[in-house]
Amino acid sequence: MLGELAEKGVRVTVEAEELLKSREADLELIVKLIGLQKPLISKEDVESLLKPPELRPVEVVPAAAFAPLAKEFSSDIRLNHTLDVTGKSRTRGEVENFISYFRNRYERLSRMLRRNGTVQTDLADVRKRLNERVRVVVLISDKKETKKGNLLFEVEDMTGSFKVVVSQSRYNEKILDKARGVILDDVVAITGKVLEPYIIAEEIEWPDLPVVREKSRSENDVATAYLSDIHFGSRYFLEKKLQSFVEWLHGRGEARELAGKVKYLVIAGDVVDGIGVYPNQEKELLVKDIHQQYAMFDDFIASLPDYIEVIAAPGNHDAVRRGEPQPALGKDLVSSDITLVGNPSSLSLEGVKHLVYHGTSIDSMISSIPGTAYAHPEKVMVEYLKRRHLSPIYGGNLIIPENIDYMVIDEPPDVFHCGHVHKNGYVQYRNTLVINSGTFQDRTDFQVKQGHVPTPALVPVYEMKHGRLRTLDFNY
Ligand SMILES: [Fe+2]
Ligand SMILES: [Fe+2]
Repeated sequence: MLGELAEKGVRVTVEAEELLKSREADLELIVKLIGLQKPLISKEDVESLLKPPELRPVEVVPAAAFAPLAKEFSSDIRLNHTLDVTGKSRTRGEVENFISYFRNRYERLSRMLRRNGTVQTDLADVRKRLNERVRVVVLISDKKETKKGNLLFEVEDMTGSFKVVVSQSRYNEKILDKARGVILDDVVAITGKVLEPYIIAEEIEWPDLPVVREKSRSENDVATAYLSDIHFGSRYFLEKKLQSFVEWLHGRGEARELAGKVKYLVIAGDVVDGIGVYPNQEKELLVKDIHQQYAMFDDFIASLPDYIEVIAAPGNHDAVRRGEPQPALGKDLVSSDITLVGNPSSLSLEGVKHLVYHGTSIDSMISSIPGTAYAHPEKVMVEYLKRRHLSPIYGGNLIIPENIDYMVIDEPPDVFHCGHVHKNGYVQYRNTLVINSGTFQDRTDFQVKQGHVPTPALVPVYEMKHGRLRTLDFNY
């Protein structure tokens, strides 16, 4: 090192020489010493250049403490067990079960249609009322369009059967439009004139929700987040995006105040991708063991803030019986301490009535009701509410005929939550907030072929005290 310095004509003091003699040639140091442009380099000069740069203290900005409001309140979940099949399946799949299933459906829905002191005629008595106007409450057993464009229905009640015509005429456009939306097994009230062998329909009514109804709100300023179709185990599962949602719940991200209000998390089915749900599904799976898929769900639950209550229903991909109504997931699959409910199920969260249904019958509804489409699942959900039934077309999807029809919507809910179509959708219908909560699964090859565009990682969050709905986007 000293030799190199001497070569460059740099002179150093004896002390500096002492310091430098043991060092190997260091070009950087030589350049720096020359740069000092001093006639004689001192020991201090060398030391100042050898000293490692002083570490500047890193400014630590403490994150504002996250004080979630939801932690302050204890939870209040009430399940309506009478409307949940869990532990109550009694069917043997025989004809008598099928008959009592339909009788139960008809009785409950017709009771809703017989409100307000309306007078009904039994189908057995219709022939006695020729040329008169009657109101009948019936189940639709057949629907045909004639060559002339009239609609012809076969209808039945507990006393008999009859035919109903909705005729094509320019004065009749409104009723004809309504009649086109009538589907098989609908229970409706039809008003019309008896011209044997037909009733000529003038009005058709579904049981529907009451027009005026008070909406329940929670007393505490807490919120519910809605998920569905996470599909743990699928190779399209969006793990990082779900992780961002968890981070958000822990107060790391935007809208922290809202994150801190989340007290409940409701999951409307398709928790896992399942095994053997459709042919060749294994090609789409990353995790091929059903218990491992649910273990991923348990890990997710464990990662949530501990004051959040989770309520989960199964869907058509979950490991319970495929036919609806589906009982709750078993503890042999999900070991977390959460509330497992059936599909469908009714529950109240702090007094706010929730109806949770996976939405498997959305497919058959879309193929039967004109004007409905996968792009707007909320519109199909309104059709359920109008019919007060979650799966009107028997056989459109697999239904197990229990002695009670668990698919009837007995009580108008404040919040109606579905999933299944992987597309977010919201609407307010007669004071019921309708939510389809989308998915955490990316677009699958099948969806590409179908031209279906899902909306992953959008989480609706409802502030139950204020009646405010917001959607959080975890697609960053
Ligand atoms: Fe799904
Ligand atoms: Fe599904």
